[in-house]
Amino acid sequence: MNILGIESSCDETAAAVVRDGRVILSNQIFSQADMHAIYGGVVPEIASRSHITVVSRLAEEALREAGLDRGDIDAIAVTAAPGLIGALLVGVNFAKGAALALGVPLIPVHHVRGHIAANYLAFPELEPPFLCVAISGGNTAIVDVRGYTDMRILGSTHDDAAGECFDKAARVLGLPYPGGLPLQNLAEGGDDGAFVLPRAKIEGHPYDMSFSGLKTAVVNIVHNAAQKGEELDRAGLAASFQRAVSESLVPRAMAAAEELGYKTVVVAGGVAANKRVRADFEAACRAAGRELFIPPLKLCGDNGAMIAAQGYYEYVSGVRAGQELNAYATMDLDRVIF
Ligand code: KG4
Repeated sequence: MNILGIESSCDETAAAVVRDGRVILSNQIFSQADMHAIYGGVVPEIASRSHITVVSRLAEEALREAGLDRGDIDAIAVTAAPGLIGALLVGVNFAKGAALALGVPLIPVHHVRGHIAANYLAFPELEPPFLCVAISGGNTAIVDVRGYTDMRILGSTHDDAAGECFDKAARVLGLPYPGGLPLQNLAEGGDDGAFVLPRAKIEGHPYDMSFSGLKTAVVNIVHNAAQKGEELDRAGLAASFQRAVSESLVPRAMAAAEELGYKTVVVAGGVAANKRVRADFEAACRAAGRELFIPPLKLCGDNGAMIAAQGYYEYVSGVRAGQELNAYATMDLDRVIF
């Protein structure tokens, strides 16, 4: 079954064709990052307008790259939540039109479920159940993935997502948007013990997280140094920051896997590209005898293939949408209602 996946929840427009949820036939991504960089973050209106400009062309490119005609597409999957509402609506409306024109089913997909499904594309042997840590720009959660479409959130962030925290910390350090990769590069060779940064705990909720205190601590350190005219150990601060994020994620995930008796740990989302986070998960899983799956870098960030992959499993479980499909800015991945 060939599914065309459409993604437009934030600042990437993406279209891809995936066969049977596992085989990538094409994966077209247009990043708007350069358009937002001068503002230091995503400007929703600019994002929506850019999605409108490129989405049809990208879908055609995805078909061409896959070597398929329109008639070879069996269903259209689209990110319908969560994300920037105007941006989501562009993808949803394009997908509705395409499904109607081609006479094929329309399948709404939760964006974070898509990030998790990126692992099915990279690892043919991977099947639920497993413990997943979903860490992206807009969402951070520890998830019990009981089945392809049966998930339970064990804990999530009470404020900023991990990626958002990376972007804010990078911004105050004078690095460009999106800040994850530049901050990682700055941290290279820095002393991760140079600064003592907070790791928030939430009383009575061992798997919940909070990153706003960490963000504020970084902002204060940078501003205090500037006010005093002191030279700041920027590499040390970046390394200490990465360590604090990683130490907020890895031990929680390992404890959750232990509690549920899962041998498999899966990491998903843009921040899964982070070297420190990857290395810490690798070390922790090796020590605990758990199998670790993290997508290759090209599948960590937003893409259409992950939406088509999850779309396949949603389709198999009976999910369909009509022309009344709407987009939603927020939605929990374990209570998906379209
Ligand atoms: O998954 P994603 O592409 O978008 C959402 O679904 O939100 O994640 C984007 C986030 C951004 O915050 C970006 O800074 C972060 O992922 N990111 C990284 C790295 N590469 C991207 N964070 C840390 N280290 C990286 N190497």
